[in-house]
Amino acid sequence: MMDHKVTEPWWQRRRDELLRLAESELNAFVYDPGTILEACDRLTSLEPVNRVLFAMKSNFNPDILRLLAGHGIDFECVSPAEVDHLLAAVPDLTTDRILFTPNFAPREDYEWARKRGIRLTLDNLYPLREWPEVFSGLDVFIRIDPEVGRGHHEHVITAGEHSKFGIPRFEVDELVALTQSAGVNVVGIHAHSGSGIPEADTWGLVATALAEVGQRFPNVRVLDLGGGLGVPARPDDPEFDLAGMEAALIGVRKQFPDYQIWLEPGRYLVSQAGVLLTHVTQLKGKGERRYVGVSTGMNALIRPSLYDAYHEIVNLTRHGDPVAGRYTVVGPICETGDTLGVDRELPQTFGGDVVLLLNAGAYGRVMSSQYNLRPVPPEVMLPAA
Ligand code: LLP
Repeated sequence: MMDHKVTEPWWQRRRDELLRLAESELNAFVYDPGTILEACDRLTSLEPVNRVLFAMKSNFNPDILRLLAGHGIDFECVSPAEVDHLLAAVPDLTTDRILFTPNFAPREDYEWARKRGIRLTLDNLYPLREWPEVFSGLDVFIRIDPEVGRGHHEHVITAGEHSKFGIPRFEVDELVALTQSAGVNVVGIHAHSGSGIPEADTWGLVATALAEVGQRFPNVRVLDLGGGLGVPARPDDPEFDLAGMEAALIGVRKQFPDYQIWLEPGRYLVSQAGVLLTHVTQLKGKGERRYVGVSTGMNALIRPSLYDAYHEIVNLTRHGDPVAGRYTVVGPICETGDTLGVDRELPQTFGGDVVLLLNAGAYGRVMSSQYNLRPVPPEVMLPAA
């Protein structure tokens, strides 16, 4: 497998452009289209994978949606508003390129999908039991809890007893009966185990679990294995073992040749392509701790506060200078939780320096808020390099 660490990351290659942009933008999410396309190519060239859908919850930037659509990527949406937003951004997208995957959604959402002719995933028996007429005659996907629950934090593990997602396998008998009585045609089996998963054996295990359930439904053609593929966060983290995942999926395809395999990643396609660019506001020393303040914080990027997520922090102005010490990097929001990184090695840092938070292309802008009425940073797509 290619080791992408040997190549210089895009934000180093494009440092001058980023510094120029920082002259006019105090804070911005900045995206590199080439990095997105490289990630697409790595996934679409996997031999056993028939289709790649982008989980647009991770980034709904219209330029990114258009870029992906133009590159043969389809879409997974979780709300009617996501579908509307997608179709506004990519007006010529046909609805057969969308999979609608709501969870604990109101009945109206399913009626809406039916009316619009959008393929949907059912992940609970309740809608089938209580509102069978909404689904009768439809081709649907069923989301199963594969009981392989993994992820970078307990909030993002979406399988197993403690997660609200998916139909447990012990309910499959009842599912078969309900789909038959409602006249529902099950054409795909779906799962999503979690997010930020480094273990490449996950998808083979999930595929096998889904294929077993698929045997119960004669018209199943697709196993949608969900997303969750991890990306390295820390400098020493290994690249995701795509070759390992591919080998496992080739094995599954051999065993179940009638099934197509789909993947549904968000993070893998966009995380590394995005940085949050910001500026140093103030510095402070307090006992043992030295603080570097930057001009946006948990309002823009909540992942460190919410999940203790690690985002590499770079002083771009002084990139390459020797490390001067450890700093805790904080934003301007009125909460102690507004901490972007603790004890990070940085060069000697000054007010006005341009700082980057890396890996901010997924679950960055989409989870930002109006907190403290600090503006949400604008998004800038760099031109193709
Ligand atoms: N498919 C389904 C049904 C999902 O629920 C998700 C993510 C994905 C695909 C895409 O997962 P990905 O490939 O991006 O890991 N806000 C959290 C991540 C939550 C993911 C929720 N579901 C974070 O910032 O880490």
